[in-house]
Amino acid sequence: MLLPRMWYLISIQWLFLLASSSIGLIQVRSQEGPLFASSRWIVDGEGRRVKLACVNWPSHLQPVLAEGLNMQPVDNIMKLVNDMGFNCVRFTWPLELATKETLASTTVKQMFTWLGLNQSLANITTHNPWVVDLTIADAFETMLERFQQNKLMVVLDNHITVPGWCCGLNDGNGFFGDRFFDPSVWMKGLNKMALLATKFPNVIGMSLRNELRGPKSDVDLWYMYVRQGAETVHAANPNVLVILSGLDYDKDLSFIHKRPVNVSFTGKVVFEHHWYSFSHSGAWKGNLNDACGWISASIMDKAGFIADEDRAPMFESEFGINAQKGDVNDDRYINCFMAMAADQDWDFAVWALQGSYYFREGVVGMDEWYGLLNYEWNDVRNPTWLKRLSSLQKPFRGPEMKQSPTNDGVLFHPQTGLCVLEGKDAGWSLSLGPCNDATGWTYTPQETFLLKGRNQFLQAAGAQKPVQLVKSEPLASRWNQTSNSKLHLSAKAADGIMVCLDVDGVNLVTNECKCLAVDSSCDPTSQWFKLVKSSHI
Ligand SMILES: *[C@@H]1O[C@H](CO)[C@@H](O)[C@H](O)[C@H]1NC(C)=O
Ligand SMILES: *[C@@H]1O[C@H](CO)[C@@H](O)[C@H](O)[C@H]1NC(C)=O
Ligand SMILES: *[C@@H]1O[C@H](CO)[C@@H](O)[C@H](O)[C@H]1NC(C)=O
Ligand SMILES: *[C@@H]1O[C@H](CO)[C@@H](O)[C@H](O)[C@H]1NC(C)=O
Repeated sequence: MLLPRMWYLISIQWLFLLASSSIGLIQVRSQEGPLFASSRWIVDGEGRRVKLACVNWPSHLQPVLAEGLNMQPVDNIMKLVNDMGFNCVRFTWPLELATKETLASTTVKQMFTWLGLNQSLANITTHNPWVVDLTIADAFETMLERFQQNKLMVVLDNHITVPGWCCGLNDGNGFFGDRFFDPSVWMKGLNKMALLATKFPNVIGMSLRNELRGPKSDVDLWYMYVRQGAETVHAANPNVLVILSGLDYDKDLSFIHKRPVNVSFTGKVVFEHHWYSFSHSGAWKGNLNDACGWISASIMDKAGFIADEDRAPMFESEFGINAQKGDVNDDRYINCFMAMAADQDWDFAVWALQGSYYFREGVVGMDEWYGLLNYEWNDVRNPTWLKRLSSLQKPFRGPEMKQSPTNDGVLFHPQTGLCVLEGKDAGWSLSLGPCNDATGWTYTPQETFLLKGRNQFLQAAGAQKPVQLVKSEPLASRWNQTSNSKLHLSAKAADGIMVCLDVDGVNLVTNECKCLAVDSSCDPTSQWFKLVKSSHI
């Protein structure tokens, strides 16, 4: 009878050893998952926020190979992703990769030869010889290994069924029951991919299906199939976040207002949403304050409320601009987007990493003007855009912020992606700089802006003059949100004239308020500021 007791003692010791070594592992791999959804935040096993700052990297077009391997060695590309400040990739896959054996077992060489992409294949052989003789399925799996080696988290996104460019209203891939979208085949594919992901702890989430859309769209069917898909993934791999797309190209999740998603598990459901300038085509042409005002309200009502009301995390999994040529609508939209993305502190995936494609919509070597990388995938296409975007990569806040007053924050300037901070000369000048170094403000019930930690208030001195800080609240300016964008801060200056907070270079000044209404051609965005809640102050 002694034996069992000794075994008992030994096993306690073993348990202790196992427990302490796995705690060590958790600390080292805190960004490798599993991750959880806690209220509106994605958090690690210890409840700390992990903000997903992802790039979209497609692997769902006809060649079914991660784009760009014809241009640079894969590790160089992944290093660029890291160097650009991203911690994650939304890696797309077509359903047939998991459900069509003849596709999965084709080699990369056969595929490119069959598609007539001889020059791409020659380039791939130069830059990534390891991939040429792998099957399409093994190449995909090896990419997941490489992501892991390069410490990048991965969201696997089922983008489409049949490999090719996505998405059209009548392309047969839009909604359950469409020509190429059989729910039972889809669930088989999800199961297979979720099982594959169990080998890779850095695969922290799976988007069930990209941009549901088209004439068959139906809310009741959405609940039925999305729930089955979520259960399928969770049963195969309980570690991944299950990410759900809305209807209408993932622009509409308004039905969640009244009817939550009911799944058998907790702490894993995340929603995703897409927002481009062309999501509201034609709408950016009017007065920009008016347009940004009503479009922001609509975004909040259709999707933003989910995070704003602490129901679940919101993964803004596609947005972006033409960073090559500039585009009037994109330039207008992106200011409005930046204000909301900072304010809501969304997890995100920008469209897109790729500077070019092997083969898109019949065109060999198509350029991607939305790409963060240039055509040859070896440098940043538009450093100004990347710099702006980088302000969203670090979290502004997290679960620890629950108790903080709602009127405290940093002043974010969406046009530059910078925040207001104290200048070098001892607190008397204010300028724009990195949000990490931003000064904290309290917007008081008296409508003054109090510099946190100091008894100093923001004061408008007059048009084209630098703002000042004053010590006495009764003398300080009263600031109001003006214009329908709610992004202007106006005050009456000493001379009685109404002015708005503005920037001159990087210095904070006040100027006559710009384009508050009616005018459709002028650009008010140098005067847009958003008080964004922040746990760094
Ligand atoms: C592409 O390569 C294949 C096989 O090597 C060859 O048969 C074909 O003629 C080549 N096509 C072109 C356009 O060079
Ligand atoms: C092949 O590589 C060269 C040099 O990097 C590049 O200029 C060219 O566009 C590539 N072509 C294809 C089809 O991949
Ligand atoms: C959720 O699903 C379970 C299991 O099917 C069911 O018992 C429960 O009533 C459902 N809850 C809601 C709110 O629909
Ligand atoms: C700010 O707006 C409120 C309500 O719109 C108004 O009552 C108040 O007079 C305004 N204050 C200033 C300083 O313009």
